[in-house]
Amino acid sequence: MKVRVTGDWPAPVALRKGWARADARPWNDAVPLAHLRLQRGNAAFIAECVEAVAELGAPGVLSPPLPESAQRIWREAGFRPHAQLALLRLDLGAARAPDRLVVAGGPADLREALRIDAAAFDEFWRFDRHAMDEAVSSTRRAAIHVVRKAGGGLSGFAVTGVGVTIAYLQRLAVDPASQGKGVGRSLVRAAARWAAREGARSLMLNTQRDNVPAIGLYETEGFEVLSEPLAVLKAG
Ligand SMILES: CC(C)(COP(=O)(O)OP(=O)(O)OC[C@H]1O[C@@H](n2cnc3c(N)ncnc32)[C@H](O)[C@@H]1OP(=O)(O)O)[C@@H](O)C(=O)NCCC(=O)NCCS
Repeated sequence: MKVRVTGDWPAPVALRKGWARADARPWNDAVPLAHLRLQRGNAAFIAECVEAVAELGAPGVLSPPLPESAQRIWREAGFRPHAQLALLRLDLGAARAPDRLVVAGGPADLREALRIDAAAFDEFWRFDRHAMDEAVSSTRRAAIHVVRKAGGGLSGFAVTGVGVTIAYLQRLAVDPASQGKGVGRSLVRAAARWAAREGARSLMLNTQRDNVPAIGLYETEGFEVLSEPLAVLKAG
């Protein structure tokens, strides 16, 4: 029995075989590698998904960011480390107030957020619409916070989601023209305040291990770099 693929690549596709399930979509609109998310299944199923998306035209497959403890079946399926990420956590106590005016954004801000994202991140790490939608919809509740420019448009945005007691800073980006002026720090504070109000006890995030500006910002806001790093693994 082969893996059954539903959907029309490069739109997101669902892969299934028996009880095993996964989803795949292009990593982003600049990188045609597939991003495979396993819902349930073993190493053999992951390997078959790699073959199935190769037949659709994806030149390779990337995993989500995985802790060491979740990497075994991906490695058994032939995946190897591709990018290292640091995992950080902030215990949400008394959150400091943002220096800049941060307001709640809405769906109408997502286009401008994507423009900033593409300008702030390199090609590999940028989000496209699918990745942004996933970031917004992957938790029970999510909020977008924005700093607006005087003449219209945004200086920066943050997407934060909350589960039960843990919140996730899913995305943070500041327009390169507005960086270094406290916008990023204010967005982190607004995200932390929102997460605390939603009942979360801690705020987690991951970022590239060599992202010195971001890690500098997070550490001075009280985040701790956790000892277990994450890695994106690649096959093909
Ligand atoms: C990381 C980022 C959000 C910071 O936003 P920003 O508005 O420029 O940051 P701020 O002006 O609020 O600066 C806050 C702190 O970040 C650190 N920082 C910012 N730019 C830095 C740089 N070029 N080098 C080193 N540290 C830097 C500093 O600790 C700074 O504090 P200080 O001004 O007291 O020294 C922004 O650089 C960005 O969008 N980067 C690309 C996208 C990204 O990496 N997002 C986060 C990944 S999860």
